[in-house]
Amino acid sequence: MSTDTIQRPIGEIARTMVSGGRGILAADESVSTMNSRLEGAGVPPTVEQRRAYRAMLVTTPGLSAWISGIILSEDIFTASTGDGKPFPVACVEAGMLAGIKVDTGAKALAGAPDETVTEGLDGLRERLESYAAAGASFTKWRAVIKIGDGLPTPRAIAANAQALARYAALVQEAGLVPIVEPEVLMTGEHSLDRCAAVTETTLRSIFDELTAQGVALEGMVLKPNMVVPGDRCATSSSPAEVASATIRTLRRTVPVAVPGIAFLSGGQGVEMATTHLAEMNGLGPHPWELSFSFGRALVDLALKAWRGEPGLAGDGQQALAERARANAQARAA
Ligand code: 13P
Repeated sequence: MSTDTIQRPIGEIARTMVSGGRGILAADESVSTMNSRLEGAGVPPTVEQRRAYRAMLVTTPGLSAWISGIILSEDIFTASTGDGKPFPVACVEAGMLAGIKVDTGAKALAGAPDETVTEGLDGLRERLESYAAAGASFTKWRAVIKIGDGLPTPRAIAANAQALARYAALVQEAGLVPIVEPEVLMTGEHSLDRCAAVTETTLRSIFDELTAQGVALEGMVLKPNMVVPGDRCATSSSPAEVASATIRTLRRTVPVAVPGIAFLSGGQGVEMATTHLAEMNGLGPHPWELSFSFGRALVDLALKAWRGEPGLAGDGQQALAERARANAQARAA
């Protein structure tokens, strides 16, 4: 691992993460989420299969043409690929930055039934030191905002915004780039307009807190949801409507000092996420890079093709490469 890779100033790392037409692969599912995804694909949910699956993704030939960095979960970040190479080293040697999810999950928020606050600040400073020493260039923290009857509450937005900002400040202090991920969930009957309003309120609160905590906007990446109607909304929206609502919301809330916005896919169909990304880039030029940091929309087909069979790793890698290439092309739309 070259020290140059580890110690580059955070502004440069952030730009590397979002520029060059490349995106970020989110392969940081928690153990329980990964287990249910493996089971869904008929793969036994074991430590070895979780490791083998991520090793298959990370070692995809040529992946760095479309992917600038990979977010790993802590259990995988500290493990090794099949040939005994630590995962962060394998990423860097393949031409991609290594990142790690550092939150410890969304936990019930006191006094706010059905809402959560993401935790993980205790001991974070010390953990960050060890992640940086092991080759991490960036980190991720995901806050979850639910839309529903009377939700989200101002309390849930404020608690999550403050935790995200305190996380981001600690990460920059450690010389790493924070991915700030507020996900307004797609789950529900709400309309496109309601998603836009909640996303706008959430992002405004987050940037207020980031400023209050002294976070350098030039050294972070924002990972928001796209503005889409709820998955049970009676009215569907066209890609053009989604794109214009999303861009309008971001223009109202995201300072131009932020180098890039890398969307999560949030349960949209694989093709739909790519279509929306292309549509939004087509509305440019924008003041920030408009990129992707998809999980499911990049890996769902790869997991299905691999099925836990060592002999099918090449098929899984081909499926990942195809989606990575398609999304990189969507950025150039
Ligand atoms: P999806 O693209 O599957 O929503 O995952 C992105 C992510 O990192 C969620 O935390």
